[in-house]
Amino acid sequence: MSWWSTWWTKKRNQGSQPPASSTEPSSESRDAERADAARERRSAAASEKPTPAEFDTWRVRDGDETAIQHGFAAASAHPGISDFLLHFSRVLDERGDPESALKLLSAALEAELAVERPSRGDEHFVSALMMRASLAERLQRRELALQSLEALLSIRFDHPQALPRYRRLRSDVPDERALQSSREARAAMTFVVDGAVGRGRYRVETEIGRGGAGTVFVAHDVHVDRKVALKVYHRRGQVQRERLHAEAHMAAQLVHPGVVRILDLEPALGAIAMEWVPHGSIRDALARGPTTLARATRWLETSLRALAFVHSKGIVHRDLKPSNLLIGDRDDVIITDFGSAAPAGADRSAAPMGEGTMQYMPPEQRAGAPAQPGHDMYAFGVSFREIFGGVPGLIPSWIERLLGRCAAERPINRASASTLLHELDAQRRDESVG
Ligand SMILES: Nc1ncnc2c1ncn2[C@@H]1O[C@H](COP(=O)(O)OP(=O)(O)O)[C@@H](O)[C@H]1O
Ligand SMILES: [Mg+2]
Repeated sequence: MSWWSTWWTKKRNQGSQPPASSTEPSSESRDAERADAARERRSAAASEKPTPAEFDTWRVRDGDETAIQHGFAAASAHPGISDFLLHFSRVLDERGDPESALKLLSAALEAELAVERPSRGDEHFVSALMMRASLAERLQRRELALQSLEALLSIRFDHPQALPRYRRLRSDVPDERALQSSREARAAMTFVVDGAVGRGRYRVETEIGRGGAGTVFVAHDVHVDRKVALKVYHRRGQVQRERLHAEAHMAAQLVHPGVVRILDLEPALGAIAMEWVPHGSIRDALARGPTTLARATRWLETSLRALAFVHSKGIVHRDLKPSNLLIGDRDDVIITDFGSAAPAGADRSAAPMGEGTMQYMPPEQRAGAPAQPGHDMYAFGVSFREIFGGVPGLIPSWIERLLGRCAAERPINRASASTLLHELDAQRRDESVG
């Protein structure tokens, strides 16, 4: 089924197995015992993914070669990247078999890229790319090394070793086009090569945020000499291209101080340029410490205004949450990330990359109901309960009531943004009178 069992068997039959392990020589009977025990564990290995420590136990007990066989069985039963996989690759390399390590890492990275939401932000993913880059470079496979570094840089631009290594390798590579046309280079976002770093319109400076779909950088737009936020999609398949397009177009129609301003769409880069909101998101602010009642109330009011506007244009955001609410200069909220947005009434197929975040999603949206403004109201309610939950002291009862009417389980019991806005304005008038 997997390439490695056949490939490994062939390799062994050719008599090119890696050097024997350093464990002490043993008698034939002990060898037979070991083989039995090893066979048992082999089937266990196929169903359970070992930890690095368990793998080391196999090496001591069964000898390296058997342990490595088990390792391949476990790796093929559990495609993708894990701490075991990284450890196993390291062991192969240390035993003088960097080719196998490289093959293993490549297969695992491929497996990871084949799933809809790969664990790109993951430390393991980053380590696997870095390790593959080193192995490939050592094995004189520069193109593969470069691809790995590009993929790495596009998710972790500030990686301390990757950029210098990439620059050094790059000056050695004559054929840039070969790189760009390779499968992974296309799938795994080569915006670095495409010129975003050195030559093109946008000079990427620092990473400011990351979500399921993309990484956001501060970039300098050299055409008009200003800073922008550049959202670069993690992947550039057909699905992502369509989604990128939809995200940019939908947000661009929504001209409002509470909706992020779209400046440009760069299909070739897989990127959207938008206004840079330097104060970050409410999620970032909450991570820095508790917030005040006045500030949270201002966020509530301004995001409700923005949301009422979005709904008045017939759009449902579908992924409201603190990390998608940016903070403007006067503590006013600016909604970002229209990557899951859809016109009201649109069905699930309008979100091929998946929509929303479970924690903030109402039950009917989880069940796949067509897009409704009520979905956003629920997410809004859950988000602000979380935000006010971190505010010290008593929360005014009108706020409790308002949030309760957003986060109602039954859609019919949820108030609309415009209704709540009317009530809020009335509340303000009362306050100024009383
Ligand atoms: N225009 C912007 N200005 C500043 N930070 C932003 C901007 N847009 C997004 N971010 C930050 O980047 C993060 C990821 O962007 P987002 O569009 O939400 O990506 P995803 O679709 O992957 O969730 C956000 O949570 C936010 O912290
Ligand atoms: Mg987001």
